[in-house]
Amino acid sequence: MLKAVILIGGPQKGTRFRPLTLDIPKPLFPIAGLPVIQHHIEACAIVEGLKEILLIGSYPASQFQQFVYNMQLRYNVTIKYLQEFTALGTAGGLFHFRDQIRYGTPDAFFLMNGDVCSDFPLKELYQFHKERPNGALVTIMAAEATKQQSLNFGCMVTDNDTHEVTHYVEKPSSYISTLINCGVYTFSLDIFPVIGEIFHLRQQDIYKSENGNDVKEAGFIQLEQEILTPLAGTGKMFAMHITNWWSQLKTGSSAIYANRHYLELYQTKHPERLSSCKEPTIIPDVHIDPTAVVDSTSVIGPNVSIGASVVIGPGVRIKESIVLDGAVIEERSLIMHSIIGRNSRVGKWARVEGTPCDPDPNKAFAKMENPPLFNNDGKLNPSITILGCSVSVPSETILLNSIVLPNKELSRSIKNEIIL
Ligand code: GDD
Repeated sequence: MLKAVILIGGPQKGTRFRPLTLDIPKPLFPIAGLPVIQHHIEACAIVEGLKEILLIGSYPASQFQQFVYNMQLRYNVTIKYLQEFTALGTAGGLFHFRDQIRYGTPDAFFLMNGDVCSDFPLKELYQFHKERPNGALVTIMAAEATKQQSLNFGCMVTDNDTHEVTHYVEKPSSYISTLINCGVYTFSLDIFPVIGEIFHLRQQDIYKSENGNDVKEAGFIQLEQEILTPLAGTGKMFAMHITNWWSQLKTGSSAIYANRHYLELYQTKHPERLSSCKEPTIIPDVHIDPTAVVDSTSVIGPNVSIGASVVIGPGVRIKESIVLDGAVIEERSLIMHSIIGRNSRVGKWARVEGTPCDPDPNKAFAKMENPPLFNNDGKLNPSITILGCSVSVPSETILLNSIVLPNKELSRSIKNEIIL
């Protein structure tokens, strides 16, 4: 029997994803028509013997109740949300809920960061884990990045023959290796005594310390720095190298990028989720929710996801974008490299456009960049255009490289601006 744990963070995380997370927790943001972590759940649900998925985070349980209920109905797996009383770090929650994870004595469990996107080759990861001759405590899914980009990830040096991780540094300040941690792991249950040791050391430090404020930090444990770094070179940690698409979900731009790739995966795995018709004109890949009303004279695609109850008027053109539930795009408007928030309205003959910042195709292994919002001169970096929920864009205006916070009624064209 196998289990999976998905780390979904909490309300204090996902700040670079604002304003999109102001009305929905980031793990539930729809990519290619499904909440981000539903892609994780789908990958888990097809693993033979996987019986339970535990979502661990510090969001109020009420925010995940409906989602968990829907997932339980849809997939033949037990799914539970376990709420941390405070953010416990990437290993603190594992330790806090160790009895739940160990219950039923699974052979192993997967750990998945909720903000990564991939086709999640979990079967292969488990097989690889099982095949290590002297037994593995952890197997990390690893990918290649460029030298420069590797500094933003956990970096590993591995033995070419055994695949053992001999050195691990989390977000190093100088170059270590281009092999990066993808935030997807298989763990053996024997990991718990290792995390327990860190927990007890931490507790002792707190008892010794005079400052009572430290007490709230007791259960906070960072997997990468406190567990993976010391495990490197002990013969217990391995890396399985993948070459398929993998990316993080940190910014609006990375959502557009992930949307494109999940739509592409649908071609082979779920062709029924892709729209194909002559009227409206569809340029693949496109996902349109069945409840959306799309005028037959509009042209949609490539790489577009249209949410539930969206209304798209005559002559509208949309490409490389996500249009969220309940949005209305009026006639002859153009939407490109943008995210249109829930229940927003784009008036007639308007143009909403952003700048893509995709990985450089000429650089082997380049990953999606997540540049800061502002450059060193305090100017907004060119990026996709994002409308928060319930934003109204008047007719005949242009919005370029801009971010609009929820509930705004714009009255003019804007370029490279954040409208608070
Ligand atoms: N439950 C819970 N509690 N989840 C958390 C917490 C916490 O306190 N802190 C972070 N997470 C979740 C986040 O929501 C995210 O899904 C995941 O754990 C990773 O957390 P980050 O802190 O955002 O780390 P990162 O994305 O910068 O780096 C991690 O992922 C990279 C791959 O995407 C590291 O594991 C890197 O080594 C790795 O390369």
